[in-house]
Amino acid sequence: MANVIERGIRSVVGAGVEALAAANRRRLPKPKAHPFLTGIFAPVAEERTIAHLAVEGRIPAELDGRYVRNGPNPLGDVDPRSYHWFLGDGMVHGVRLRDGRAEWYRNRWVRSTRVSEALGEPPAPGPRRGRSDNANTHVVKIAGRMLAIVEASAYPVELDGELGTVAHHDFAGTLRGSFSAHPHLDPATGEQHAVCYDPETPDVVRHVVVSSEGRVIRDEPVDLPGGVMIHDCALTPRFVAIFDLPVTFSRRAYVEGWEFPLRWNPDRPARVGLLPRDGSGADVRWSEVEPCSVFHVANAFEDGDRVVVDLVTHDRMFDRSGWGPDSRQVRFERWTLSPGAPVMRQVLDDTPQEFPRCDERRSTQPYRFAWCTGLGLGGEALQLGRCLVFHDLARGGRQVRDFGPGRVPGEFVFVPRAGGDAEDDGWLMGFVSHEDGDRAELVILNARDPLGEPQAVVHIPARIPAGFHGSWIPA
Ligand SMILES: [Fe+2]
Repeated sequence: MANVIERGIRSVVGAGVEALAAANRRRLPKPKAHPFLTGIFAPVAEERTIAHLAVEGRIPAELDGRYVRNGPNPLGDVDPRSYHWFLGDGMVHGVRLRDGRAEWYRNRWVRSTRVSEALGEPPAPGPRRGRSDNANTHVVKIAGRMLAIVEASAYPVELDGELGTVAHHDFAGTLRGSFSAHPHLDPATGEQHAVCYDPETPDVVRHVVVSSEGRVIRDEPVDLPGGVMIHDCALTPRFVAIFDLPVTFSRRAYVEGWEFPLRWNPDRPARVGLLPRDGSGADVRWSEVEPCSVFHVANAFEDGDRVVVDLVTHDRMFDRSGWGPDSRQVRFERWTLSPGAPVMRQVLDDTPQEFPRCDERRSTQPYRFAWCTGLGLGGEALQLGRCLVFHDLARGGRQVRDFGPGRVPGEFVFVPRAGGDAEDDGWLMGFVSHEDGDRAELVILNARDPLGEPQAVVHIPARIPAGFHGSWIPA
């Protein structure tokens, strides 16, 4: 997420309040150790290129491409009093696989204007919008381009094969507003669907569709007052689901000086809206749900006239801490939306986990497997766990892979085997960070044997801080 949140709302709060917020920022309590600037989250200070990585096991020769992951990595000094995990300068970490070898590891800051200035470089080319151009949340491939993306403000940023910034990118001039960190692919059409919000226009969100050719072909506004934060959406063949949940812009938090002034709002009812993919914003059909917070959807599909959404829920969000996620209870759930009825919530797994992924060839369709990253709870802020959780949604049950003391996995993504069709015919791939020193791993698991010996472990002699989302980008 961009630090646009704080800047973008200037138009909402006015210049006088902005000055007061700036003064109050200096009076915020200073954390002893900021939970998202220390330990596994501590940023790295330089960009590195490391060739010829050591590999245990065997990298399948057909894996020709790059695993790339984005996340916040503030460049230079930041004020720990007001810094929020979602605001750090975007940095991508990647490993190039080819011919059974791990050719290199690279990490590169995504060139926002701020990063380019701090590095003494000219600004990256391409259009800008909003108050921030920090694309720090995800990296995806759309219409042949590798794009670093973020919600709420910035345009996507195109990266080259060595993770350098090519240009800021507005889908050939067709994107007229903010984008999202979580567009969802419809495999039937090749379209990417996103629900986008922007703190500069806090009374409306937009359903944006990008064609397989990389042009915005729909930008439908939906009236939604109150400055709600919407990190993800859900997509089925007929609908896109809009999460109107109680995390909203807080004028009080802003005035207090917090750079990320989104807070749990107990006065806001919670609901989920189904917008027909070709309908107008007035066609949304809302269903009430018990108040909670959602960042991520694993997948969604239709069952007759019902819509089923698998997602991770947080009991509260931004309720106790101004520095990052602070939920007390996190669960993997199945929500069923029926016309005219409240959302029916079913707990699939009540152990804390996040970053759910599926075989994206099954996006919008009934599916069997979901893969999540374990979390730790306790204290003021969310912590990452040491495990991955593998769900078999058809047969029920889950398997847990514990990476052991000091090894912290991030999000793992599924990479299908060429020519295979089964959901587990392929590999699960992601970074495992080490708590004790300058090393990390790219771990490749066999999806059919996720608890067994890894297919391969690529040893990276560099620290990779915990981050957000990534993708396997085939060559
Ligand atoms: Fe996310």
